[in-house]
Amino acid sequence: MKMTLHLGKRSYNIILKRGALANLHQLADLNRKVAVVTDSGVPAQYAQTVADQCKAARIITVPQGEASKSLKTLEAVLYQMLDFGMGRGDLVVAVGGGVVGDMAGFAAAVYMRGIDFINCPTTTLSMIDSSIGGKTAVDLGDTKNIVGAFHQPKVVVVDFATLDTLPRRHYVNGLAEAIKAGLLADAELFDLFENGDVDKNIEKIIYRSLQVKRRVVEKDETEAGLRKCLNLGHTLGHGIEAVKGVKGRRKTGLFHGECVALGMLPMIEEEALRKRTLAVYRKVGLPTRTTFDAEKVYAEMLHDKKAQSGKVTVIKVPGLGCWRADTIPTSELRTLLGLNG
Ligand SMILES: NC(=O)c1ccc[n+]([C@@H]2O[C@H](COP(=O)([O-])OP(=O)(O)OC[C@H]3O[C@@H](n4cnc5c(N)ncnc54)[C@H](O)[C@@H]3O)[C@@H](O)[C@H]2O)c1
Repeated sequence: MKMTLHLGKRSYNIILKRGALANLHQLADLNRKVAVVTDSGVPAQYAQTVADQCKAARIITVPQGEASKSLKTLEAVLYQMLDFGMGRGDLVVAVGGGVVGDMAGFAAAVYMRGIDFINCPTTTLSMIDSSIGGKTAVDLGDTKNIVGAFHQPKVVVVDFATLDTLPRRHYVNGLAEAIKAGLLADAELFDLFENGDVDKNIEKIIYRSLQVKRRVVEKDETEAGLRKCLNLGHTLGHGIEAVKGVKGRRKTGLFHGECVALGMLPMIEEEALRKRTLAVYRKVGLPTRTTFDAEKVYAEMLHDKKAQSGKVTVIKVPGLGCWRADTIPTSELRTLLGLNG
């Protein structure tokens, strides 16, 4: 399967195929210096498969986990790129999940004011969502994605075979973003979750989710308006993630997609649809509720870059396949968290 994300001169193909990683040389110019960035949890053979096809490659492995989306790790990666003697015409390839993609993409965006970048996502979350659209970033402390840039990849290569090694909880975690895409704009995708076999349909689920995101990004690359819809569940989700997420020394907690899943629930206005979504969460194994200190989550949400002006735009889902943006005073987030009554 193949689709093209149309952005004028910055258009690129998204290739979806089992085994595609071994064919990267047919999809991109690897006849240059290539920094292959991966993390310690991604099976090493995936980065090696890419490196073996390059004229000159250096594999850069960062520690696994969200903590690697930091300025410190970014600096270490940039030093390695400099040490490797990379120049303007060279290339960064990310092989991993959203953490590697976001951080390596940002390294490519800032090294020599921007060099080529290719994303090879290896988690459901990164295949379904984060690998396309050009958002690259690192976190500052617990404040997510606050330092970043828009930097579109040259090609995105989704090799379904890499999912064979992905731990089940990470596999399920990424499905939250696909359920999001269904809720926002694709009733048939939501139906695959409600009535289908999710594992058997995973390639279709990834493809349809990417189509939803592609259409949005094509119309609004830099999130001037429409693209905000993709933040469904993220304002609350990021607050929950800051307080309860797996981060730094906190080894237990919720993953990003799990937090987004919880953050979406109060945004679904139709009660029947909220119940159907909860049933889908139960079916796939996403959390349906969690205990958290709502005051702390509220305080964290105020740090969110989208809430800095005293107002925040949240995305609400009035019914399946449609959404609206609602700009509310940040104090109303308290109500959504159940703090006012
Ligand atoms: N840029 C965007 O548009 C965007 C969108 C959504 C989320 N994100 C970001 O994505 C990040 C989360 O991404 P994620 O859920 O992929 O997490 P992740 O990158 O941390 O990957 C999850 C874990 O799986 C391991 N792993 C990866 N691929 C594997 C494989 N094939 N087999 C075995 N293990 C594997 C990794 O080592 C890691 O420990 C967050 O930082 C979030 O902010 C970005």
